[in-house]
Amino acid sequence: MPTLATVRIISAFSTPRHRIFSSLHKVIMDNVTPPKPGARAASSFVHDKAFVNGEWVPASSGKTFDVVNPANGKVIGSVPDMDASDTEMAIKVAYKAFQSWKETTAKERSVLLKKWADLVNQNREELAKLLTSEMGKPVAESAGEIMYGAGFLDLFAEEAKRVEGDIIQTPMKSRRILVLKQPIGVSGMITPWNFPNAMITRKAGAAIAAGCTVVLKPAEDTPYSALALCELAKEAGIPAGVLNVVTSSRDNASQVGKMICESPLVTKMSFTGSTFVGKLLLQQCASTVKKVSLELGGNAPFIVFESADVDAAVQGTMGAKFRCSGQTCVCANRIYVHESIFDEYVRKFAAVVEKDLKVGDGILPGTTQGPLINKKAVEKIDAHVQDAVSKGAKVVCGGKSMGGNFYEPTILTGVTGDMRCAKEEIFGPIAGIIKFKTEDEVVGLANATTSGLSGYFYSRDISQIWRVAERLESGLVGVNEGVISMPEVPFGGWKESGLGREGGRYGIEEYLEIKYVCMGGL
Ligand code: SIN
Repeated sequence: MPTLATVRIISAFSTPRHRIFSSLHKVIMDNVTPPKPGARAASSFVHDKAFVNGEWVPASSGKTFDVVNPANGKVIGSVPDMDASDTEMAIKVAYKAFQSWKETTAKERSVLLKKWADLVNQNREELAKLLTSEMGKPVAESAGEIMYGAGFLDLFAEEAKRVEGDIIQTPMKSRRILVLKQPIGVSGMITPWNFPNAMITRKAGAAIAAGCTVVLKPAEDTPYSALALCELAKEAGIPAGVLNVVTSSRDNASQVGKMICESPLVTKMSFTGSTFVGKLLLQQCASTVKKVSLELGGNAPFIVFESADVDAAVQGTMGAKFRCSGQTCVCANRIYVHESIFDEYVRKFAAVVEKDLKVGDGILPGTTQGPLINKKAVEKIDAHVQDAVSKGAKVVCGGKSMGGNFYEPTILTGVTGDMRCAKEEIFGPIAGIIKFKTEDEVVGLANATTSGLSGYFYSRDISQIWRVAERLESGLVGVNEGVISMPEVPFGGWKESGLGREGGRYGIEEYLEIKYVCMGGL
């Protein structure tokens, strides 16, 4: 039975396209649950301007673009459609701010980052509703992402103080050798829609902790979460010009990206998104020889060996496959199950999928699977299913669009390596299962891809655990765990899945330059 608040949400989101968002959004957000003491109403985080030099600014052209709620297709507001000239201006601002920000002490930066983290945590529920309204994931999952995002700020507040240089033993009595680590400079960032909060804090938190300044372009689908983070950064006391967010539509995205990649004032570029776009940005960064971090697509194997605890493996698959409706770059993409436990695993997995997953608008209580990001994503998922079925796969459950941007959680068996769902990154709720016989066979299949972001396996054989963890060609390996992302860990891929690492103490290194100082004449 929908509650009064739910009814208000549905009817508010169903109002005509061009109603003023701010008042509408206030009705929606403020009536779901009252904000906690100390937290603000979600509507107060809604900004219709970009954030440059500590100010809310329009595009110089005055143009805007609409942001759409993927759960119902309604326009939820509009933000500035900035172009290359706006981006260049933001870069100059960040460059100027860098001259003073790099002189701050690590402790000063740490205090501000900690305050920013606390504010994000304090406003978790409201930020989660905002995130769900623009991206679609269930509000409880959004709240988890906000905590994950705040976790990066908290972690980098600590890591800022642990950046240390070195003194190397001298081979010459008259000389001393020092190694300094210094902030790299203005850092350009391009972030994805699937984690509209945490992918920003994972990058910007590290950069700001290191003493760098930031120009960031959020995904056109999810600018509001980025702008909300700017508001809290300002409130935390992070000075003007240190964090700048440039919003742009899909049409302008390539000129904004090119400006970030080719500007000589930007010395570092970090991108999370598709391998195709990552390669393009890498080429553009070559012109100024920038330091580059890329978190690109995956094609994760998920292996269930014969010694596995099948129930635990099923639970692990649920997290690895259906988190964010399958729209993460670390989602299980190819599920390999040993022939001796294949039938048991498929039966149990299908039962849990049918019992536990509820597809719907993420703002509604009980939803576990929100919409896919847009119609194109639904069409791609459906094409994967049709392709697999035409090549002999069997649909165990799901397999159909549910209208709008919703797609049934789908299990396929009889998947083979020539099917699109095994060769390409799925980025949606299809679990394709493949039977295997031996460890050598499955490790060979798992590694037979140009991607190398994550891999998972379930086994209770300790020798096999060591062997397979070492043999998988990926940057992240989950052993008897299906969700392994944490702020503390080095996140990043091998092969075409990317360059560099984000998170943990490795993440801050990406924003530091090494300087060797030789003191002579001693
Ligand atoms: C991603 O999908 O880009 C990141 C996922 C994560 O941090 O777990």
